[in-house]
Amino acid sequence: MAISTQATEGRWSSRWLFVLAAAGSAVGLGNIWKFPYIAGENGGGAFVLIYLVCVAFVGAPIMISEVMLGRKGRASPINTMRKLTQQSGASSRWTFLGWMGVTAGVLILSYYAVIAGWALNYIWLTAAGTFDAASAQVATGTFDQLQQDPLQMMGWHAVFMLITIWIVARGVSRGLEAAIRWFMPLLFVLLLVLLGYSVSSGGFAQGWAFMFDFNWAVVGPETWLIAMGQAFFTLSLGMGTMMAYGAYVPSDSNIGSTVLTIVVLDTFVAVAAGLAIFPLVFVNGLEVGQGPGLMFVTLPLAFGQLPMGALFGTVFFVLVSFAAITSAISLTEPAIAYVVEEYNAKRSRVAVSLGGICWLLGLGTVFSFNIWVDEKPFFGLNFFELVDQLSQNIMLPLGGLLIALFAVWALPQSVVREQLDVTDDRVMLLWRVVGGVIAPLGVAAVFVYTLLPLFTS
Ligand code: PHE
Repeated sequence: MAISTQATEGRWSSRWLFVLAAAGSAVGLGNIWKFPYIAGENGGGAFVLIYLVCVAFVGAPIMISEVMLGRKGRASPINTMRKLTQQSGASSRWTFLGWMGVTAGVLILSYYAVIAGWALNYIWLTAAGTFDAASAQVATGTFDQLQQDPLQMMGWHAVFMLITIWIVARGVSRGLEAAIRWFMPLLFVLLLVLLGYSVSSGGFAQGWAFMFDFNWAVVGPETWLIAMGQAFFTLSLGMGTMMAYGAYVPSDSNIGSTVLTIVVLDTFVAVAAGLAIFPLVFVNGLEVGQGPGLMFVTLPLAFGQLPMGALFGTVFFVLVSFAAITSAISLTEPAIAYVVEEYNAKRSRVAVSLGGICWLLGLGTVFSFNIWVDEKPFFGLNFFELVDQLSQNIMLPLGGLLIALFAVWALPQSVVREQLDVTDDRVMLLWRVVGGVIAPLGVAAVFVYTLLPLFTS
C-alpha cells in the first residue's frame, strides 16, 4: 500500500522554529494550571521531585524517540508508524500507537478547551477590575460563580474551540510561528514578575519549603502514577504530537540538543508557576489541595495587589490563553494530519468536524463542575476526572512506552545513528540503556505497581 505523506510536505524554516513550536505545544495549561494544583493535591515536595525524575529519565528520552520517528517517517503519526514498520520489517500492530494517540488527543482537547475557556473569561474579569485589591473571599467567590454557571462555561469553551479551529483550519505554521516568537518570551517575563511579587509576599519561604521539602510519608504508588502522567502531559508526549511536529524538522538539526532545550524550558515554566503560586496560597490562608481552581483563585489576588495589577493580570491571562491555544493546536495535529493525508480531505473541513466532536465531549467536563458535580459513576470519578486520568495517566504513558520500545528495539540501529547523529558506540549504548530499558521499565513498573492492585483486589 502506498502511504500518503502529503500533509507534511512543509518544513519548519529553522531549528529554532521547531523549538518554538514544540515549546508552544509543551508549555500550556499543563505547566501553569495543572502542575501547581496536582503538586498541591499530592503533598508538594515529594511529588515535585518524583516528577522531575520522570521528566529527566522518562520524558526526555521518549521525546527524543518521538521526534526521531517523526522526522524519519515524515507523515502523520499513524502513517509514520505504518511506513516505519514496513521499512524495518516490524509488525504492523505498532500502528495501534498512532490510533491511541489520536484518541488521547480528542479526549484531552475536550477538557483542555473548557479550562482554557476559564482563562479567556479571566481576561475580561481582570480587565474589568474585578480583582483590584480583592480579598481571598472575592477571588474564591468569583471562581465559584463561574463554576456554577454551565451556560457561561459552555460559551467560553465554544469561543476557545472556535479560535483553535480557525487557526488549525488555516494551516499550522502560518502566523503561528511569528506569534509564538513574541508571546512565549513575554509569558516568561510575566512569570518572572509574578515570581518577584511572590518572593516579596512574605510567604516565599513557606512556598519554597512546600515545593522542595521532601517528605516520604506522603508518597504512595499513586504519587508515581500521577507524577509520571504529568511528565507526559506537560511535555506533550505519548500521543504523537511530537511525532507530528518532528515530521517538519529539517534533516540537519540535532535532535538531542533540541529536545533538551524544550524540556528545560518546559520545566522552568512549571517550577516558576509553582513558586509564584504557593507562597500566595500560604500568605492568604488558602487551601493548597483545592484542586483545579488553584491558579484562578491565587493569581488574581497577586494582581489585585500589584501596581497596574489589572493591566498585568489581563496581559497574563491573554498569554496563558495563548499558551493554551498553541498546545490545543498541537493536540489536533496527529488526527488532522492523518485524515487530510489519508482521504485527501480539506483541512478546514476536518478541523471543523474535530472541533465539533471535542466541543460536544467537553460538555461532560463543563457539567462535572456543576450539575454533575456529585455524579461519580466511573470508579468513583466524575466525567472530567475520568477523561483526564484515563488520557494522562494511562494512554500517554502507554503510548510513550511503546514509542520508546519501537524506537530503540524495532528500528534498525543504522537509522537511529543517522537520525541522532551518533558515531560514538558509548553514546549509542547509553541511548539504548536509557531509552530502551530505563524509560520503558520505569513506565511499566509504575503501571504494574499502581494498576495491578485495582484488578486483583
Ligand atoms: N503539554 C500541553 C500542556 O502542558 C498539553 C498537551 C498534551 C499538548 C499532549 C499536546 C499533547 O499544556
